[in-house]
Amino acid sequence: MSEGLVTVAYLGATILFILSLGGLSHPETSRRGNLYGIIGMTIAIVATLLGPHVSGAGFAWIILAMLIGGSVGLYAARKVQMTQMPELVALMHSLVGLAAVFVGLASYIDPDVHYTGTEKTIHELEVYIGILIGAVTFSGSVIAFGKLSGKIGGRPMLLPARHWINLAGLIAVIVLCRTFLKADSVGSGMVPLLLMIAIALAFGVHMVMAIGGADMPVVVSMLNSYSGWAASATGFMLSNNLLIVTGALVGSSGAILSYIMCEAMNRNFISVIAGGFGTEGGKPAAAGGAQPAGEVVAVSAAETAELMREARSIVIVPGYGMAVAQAQHTVYEITRLLRERGSDVRFAIHPVAGRMPGHMNVLLAEAKVPYDIVMEMDEINEDFPETDLAMVIGANDIVNPAAEDDPHSPIAGMPVLEVWKAGTSIVMKRSMASGYAGVDNPLFYKDNNRMLFGDAKKMLGEVLAVLKTAA
Ligand code: TAP
Repeated sequence: MSEGLVTVAYLGATILFILSLGGLSHPETSRRGNLYGIIGMTIAIVATLLGPHVSGAGFAWIILAMLIGGSVGLYAARKVQMTQMPELVALMHSLVGLAAVFVGLASYIDPDVHYTGTEKTIHELEVYIGILIGAVTFSGSVIAFGKLSGKIGGRPMLLPARHWINLAGLIAVIVLCRTFLKADSVGSGMVPLLLMIAIALAFGVHMVMAIGGADMPVVVSMLNSYSGWAASATGFMLSNNLLIVTGALVGSSGAILSYIMCEAMNRNFISVIAGGFGTEGGKPAAAGGAQPAGEVVAVSAAETAELMREARSIVIVPGYGMAVAQAQHTVYEITRLLRERGSDVRFAIHPVAGRMPGHMNVLLAEAKVPYDIVMEMDEINEDFPETDLAMVIGANDIVNPAAEDDPHSPIAGMPVLEVWKAGTSIVMKRSMASGYAGVDNPLFYKDNNRMLFGDAKKMLGEVLAVLKTAA
């Protein structure tokens, strides 16, 4: 395949990637978006393999690497639980970072083209920046994986003078860059390069260790963005236009997603990176303005079914617990039954419900819930006062009134679904335990709130059985 033909193939792949991102922005078009992505990536790989840069033994090595990598990927994708997805994503970002470091080192030790003068400086700068971003992405993502999977505690590690430590690291990286660019041989250039890698790895660890559990979703999408920029920098090193563009697409979409999530949690991006949020690490919050008061009123599955039957308008709020219990199919069966009886049933989706962006949308789509009854938070929040029953299934933080009422709450200012404004709310969960942010929830103690304790799938199964017999 000639260089020209490869460029045309790359252009086609780029267009497909852009269409793919467009498709993924809505549940209805996401399957098509995925398909565009798959076709684009296939074209990109085939064009690279048949292009002028791969030949003989290189071809065999790449096929071998693809077989190994593909098998590991297939195994991981089949085995991973939906709720473990963020961990898997974090782990994959770490691999992108590591690849950028290795490609950078290889490209420095044995460059494809032997540049001279300014071109050499530019190439070395690309190598330096690519390795820097790659190393930060690698170590940051490994720590993010550890935190998300519970192997490392969610509590932020806040070193004294941590901002000064970061600043000193940044200055050292700039000074080392100067030494690296001035080096007259690969051997002498390696010393500042390896020192920079050590600093970048330490910075990645330090940055993510300082971030509290509640901000981890933003961090994962930020690392996603970094992995894109690392890939893009690798593209510059290898003079590969497709890698530059694809990396930039991933980098910018990850940055936009981080911004959207910060908005959804009412967090400032800079303060997320500065760290410290979610310090409570899973325990109920300390004393604050909106102290929970009174007792909770528990209801049975039969009473829940009765309340559902009486309600004309119902809003279901799914959360992480619905994902854990895999209760989405039962939820939809109940919804169908109630809709057939003439009730107005809709779903309210909080932007950070569950453990990854779009988590609830994916589950509801899997259960074949029609898209037109699935509403975003902004579309439905003002409808709660006219709603007879708000049914909260395994959600906690996203329906916590303390976010609005208690300025001292760790989640103060985060927009929440105002279920307490409905005629009655029912919260279905197993215990009084706190949610991801580790804060107590005054909703449970409100007069118009009822608690249905138990595993979401089991309890909903019982509710469904009662509804069916009464139908
Ligand atoms: P959470 O606040 O984490 O609450 C989930 C609740 O589900 C828990 O309180 C738990 O209570 C209950 N639960 C667990 N297993 C259950 C089961 N089998 N049956 C019934 N209930 C069960 O979830 P949320 O309201 O969806 O809020 C999401 C939180 O995660 C936010 O704080 C968000 O910032 C964070 N987060 C979001 C993302 C993204 S991008 N979506 C990623 C990472 C973190 P019991 O133990 O009492 O049952």
